[in-house]
Amino acid sequence: MNKFSKVLLAGTMALGLGACSSKPAASAGGSAATKGGDYADKKVGIAIYQFNDNFMTLFRTELEDYLVSKGFDKSNITITDGANDQATQTAQIDNFITQGVDVMIVNPVNSSSAPTITDKVTSADIPLVYINREPDEEEQKRWKDEGLKVTYVGADARQSGTYQGELILETETKGDINGDGVVSYIMIEGDPENVDAQYRTEYSVKALTDAGTKVKELDDEVANWDQAQAQEKVQNALSKYPEAEVVFCNNDAMALGALEAIKAAGKTVGKDIYLVGVDALADALDKVEAGEMTGTVLNDHIAQSHGAADAAMDYLDGKDVDYKYVKDYVKVTKDNIADIKKSLGL
Ligand code: GAL
Repeated sequence: MNKFSKVLLAGTMALGLGACSSKPAASAGGSAATKGGDYADKKVGIAIYQFNDNFMTLFRTELEDYLVSKGFDKSNITITDGANDQATQTAQIDNFITQGVDVMIVNPVNSSSAPTITDKVTSADIPLVYINREPDEEEQKRWKDEGLKVTYVGADARQSGTYQGELILETETKGDINGDGVVSYIMIEGDPENVDAQYRTEYSVKALTDAGTKVKELDDEVANWDQAQAQEKVQNALSKYPEAEVVFCNNDAMALGALEAIKAAGKTVGKDIYLVGVDALADALDKVEAGEMTGTVLNDHIAQSHGAADAAMDYLDGKDVDYKYVKDYVKVTKDNIADIKKSLGL
């Protein structure tokens, strides 16, 4: 086991990654259990924070396909676009309640709205599966303590940040291209309210400092998970700080934008600068393969969407459901890209 695997293993244990053991009572209220997994007449309401998001598009497509493969009728699955506006999404959730859906899967616009959403949905006796944007510890504790039919199926964003930092430490120069003893970086964040953005920003840098590496933040910009916004932000940052050695992007869409800016500045990834993202979008995997991105981290939309659907089905079947299911991220470099592509059916 190399040093990085050990650090990772220790981190994984410290974070308690993996399925949690505490279970809320699954038998309180709710619709009648399905007979033998027959879901054809079950109604599912799925609220997505915004359709205009590469990763969540992969996620919702896979979620719908998987539910249909399990016997749900496509016409009973409603997926709404929250258009990145909490009021819009709350109205959509109210609508699902009025329609009497049997189970809800929610990707909240603001994770901080989770307590309100939880109260509404559980008062209507509808089981609730949160995805992608993890509600905070206090809220999760409440589901457990009050025995609510609510769960979160997703990933732990701290792990993805740690992997990003490790990707930099695993390069030939450990991120210090100019050899001055300090890794100078630009950070490009998703939206600041999002816990994935917060943790990736913190833990990517923490992996470096935990390994004893000195770091200097040259710039930290918000690009809202968006390729075009990231391209502009990185273009400006590189003109102010041409000495940058690393560009950390909280996701791949932004890394793809950053790559355009890096090329336009006449720089080459791997030689003049390092670049990492998260998600493992098909385009980003091609860039990693071509050496135009240092690496990325697989955000496993297949495991996450199937896990969310499985939890929804368990609720419908009257089975016990844990209050949290965590799916692992996977570090992606040139070395394992073939396996990753295969696992994604690419
Ligand atoms: C993250 C993902 C981003 C974006 C965000 C939306 O997990 O890496 O690309 O989709 O979720 O909440």
